[in-house]
Amino acid sequence: MEKVVIISGGTKGLGKSLVRLFKKGGWLVSSFGRSVSRNGIESDTGILWTKADMRFESDIDIVIKRTMEEFGPPNVLILNAGTISPCKEIVDDSILNLRKNFEINVFANTYLTQLFLANSKNGLVVHITSDVSKTPALGWSFYGSSKPAMDYIIRALTVEVPDSRFLSIDPGDMATEMHFIADPTADSDELQSPEKAAESVFQKIISEAGAV
Ligand SMILES: NC(=O)c1ccc[n+]([C@@H]2O[C@H](COP(=O)([O-])OP(=O)(O)OC[C@H]3O[C@@H](n4cnc5c(N)ncnc54)[C@H](OP(=O)(O)O)[C@@H]3O)[C@@H](O)[C@H]2O)c1
Repeated sequence: MEKVVIISGGTKGLGKSLVRLFKKGGWLVSSFGRSVSRNGIESDTGILWTKADMRFESDIDIVIKRTMEEFGPPNVLILNAGTISPCKEIVDDSILNLRKNFEINVFANTYLTQLFLANSKNGLVVHITSDVSKTPALGWSFYGSSKPAMDYIIRALTVEVPDSRFLSIDPGDMATEMHFIADPTADSDELQSPEKAAESVFQKIISEAGAV
């Protein structure tokens, strides 16, 4: 039986490549983002798209409902969608930016995980984390504090929900929209492409998902 994966933020960057790789690997893929142009199963690819803004719990409810209706219970959830604000030192930044980072990277991800766990059996949740989670990087602290907060939730869930599996994967720095929002001066030659990063993330997930 085909396995079902939900990938948040499949419209751009890493998520877009992961959607392609899972589809190519024979998975049933459900993905969403704000910039999805049309809801439903794409005729040429079979991918289920939902126009959804993770800030709204009602949008996440719809993603899960439509995935269940079209494909049945999901096996894997990839918490890929994320947000970032332009790099600033803590004393100069606005608390609103801290809220915006936590709103998506922690609150929405946690709600999505709760719904996934309520609808999946022995599933796998993969959080796409970042190296700033481990080592503070000057100017990246509002984003950088949201990633370890979600890593903590992932680690706590491994104890609280032993029937399911949880994993954080750092894809490494990539030349994506998000990276240039944070640092418009970044040198794209020093960043890997999201396509390349996705290949190694995909392999890690596939080897972990073997028993799902
Ligand atoms: N780029 C890096 O250097 C880097 C390094 C380490 C980790 N990461 C992590 O990798 C993941 C993917 O990032 P990326 O670099 O590929 O970023 P990206 O190209 O900017 O893509 C971000 C994705 O998140 C979705 N998204 C953002 N806000 C959303 C919202 N409110 N509701 C629904 N979807 C939303 C976007 O879709 P819409 O715009 O269509 O809503 C988009 O598909 C993130 O978790 C990021 O923290 C990135």
